[in-house]
Amino acid sequence: MISPLITIAQALVAPGKGLLAMDESVGTCNRRLAEFGIAQTEDARRRYRALLVTAPGLSEAISGAILFDETLGQATLDGLPFVDVLHEAGIVVGIKVDTGAKALAGHPGEKVTEGLDGLRERLAHYASLGARFAKWRAVLSIGDGLPSRACILVNAHALARYAALCQEVGLVPIVEPEVLMEGEHTLAHCSDVSSEVLHQVFKQLHNQGVALDAMILKPNMVLPGLSSDVAASLDDVADATLNCLLRTVPAAVAGVAFLSGGQPAVLATARLNAMQRRNHASGSTSPVFPWPLSFSFGRALQQPALRLWAGNDAHRTLAQNALLHRARCNGAAARGEYRAAMETEGLSP
Ligand code: 13P
Repeated sequence: MISPLITIAQALVAPGKGLLAMDESVGTCNRRLAEFGIAQTEDARRRYRALLVTAPGLSEAISGAILFDETLGQATLDGLPFVDVLHEAGIVVGIKVDTGAKALAGHPGEKVTEGLDGLRERLAHYASLGARFAKWRAVLSIGDGLPSRACILVNAHALARYAALCQEVGLVPIVEPEVLMEGEHTLAHCSDVSSEVLHQVFKQLHNQGVALDAMILKPNMVLPGLSSDVAASLDDVADATLNCLLRTVPAAVAGVAFLSGGQPAVLATARLNAMQRRNHASGSTSPVFPWPLSFSFGRALQQPALRLWAGNDAHRTLAQNALLHRARCNGAAARGEYRAAMETEGLSP
C-alpha cells in the first residue's frame, strides 16, 4: 500500500523538478485577479488556469500541479479536462483538501486549519478523479507571544490526522506548516519558531503512524520578518533554513519543497539555489542535507505570468513564457545550477 506512494513522492521531488501550486481557493484567486484589475469570475479563473496547465514544456521543470476543488473539474477552452491535460504532459495531479484557516477559539489573532470532517470520503473522491497527492496548509503568525503553544499543537495534530488519512486512501500528503513572513521579527526568531513548529509536527506525524518516506514537507524558508529592518543575505537565509531543517526533519522524509510565501520571485529562486549549492560545494564528500530539496511555489511561479496575462487572452503566449521561465529558473535552482544571468539571457545553461 505504501510503496506506490513512495514512488509518487520521489517523482514529485525528482532532480531539477518541483511543484506548481495553483490551488488558491476561490477567494484567494479572486484577490490575486483583482490586484491586476481582472474580472473575478469563474470564467476568468478557468481561462487563467487553462493558460497555466497548457503551457508547452511545463513538465521540463514541473513534476506536479496542486489544484483546487473548482479547478479539478474544469476544462480548457477546447473542452479538455485539466486533469487529462496534466496527465498527458506527465505532470502528477494534486489537490488542496483543507477548507481553510479559521479563527482559533480563545486565541485572538491565531488560526487553526479546518477540513477533517468528511475528509476520508473527499480524499477517496479526489483519488477517483485522478489526484495522486494532496495538500493541507497550516498558518502560524509570529508576534507578541505568538504563536501560542495551543496554536502550534492543534495545527500539528490536524496536519498529522490529514496525512494519515491521505496515506490510508492512497494519496501522498504534502504537509505544509507555514510560519508567515509578516512581522518585525529577526531571522533568529523565525528560526526558533519554525524549529518548534516542525518539532511538534514531526512528533504528531510519528504518534499517528505517518510513513515519512511517503510524504513531502512544504515548509517556509527561515527569513527575517517583512517589517524587520535587518537585511539577510542569501547565505544567511540558506544557513538558517538548513540548520532549522537539519535539527527537526528526519532523513526519511521523501522530500522538502519550499513554499514561496510572498517573497519576490527571483529572490525565492536565488535562495533555493543557495541552499542547494551546499550539497554541490566542491570538495564536499558527503551531502550537507539528506532530502531532495525543491520548490512548491504559488506566487513565485505565477505572479509574472498573471501580470502579463492581465485577463487578456491575446497575451496568453507571453504569460506562458513567463511561467516557463520561472519554472526553468527554479528547476535550475533545484539542481544548484541557477545563475542570476539566466534572468536576462534566456535560459541557456
Ligand atoms: P506561495 O508559494 O505563494 O506561498 O504558495 C504556496 C502555497 O501552496 C501556499 O499554500
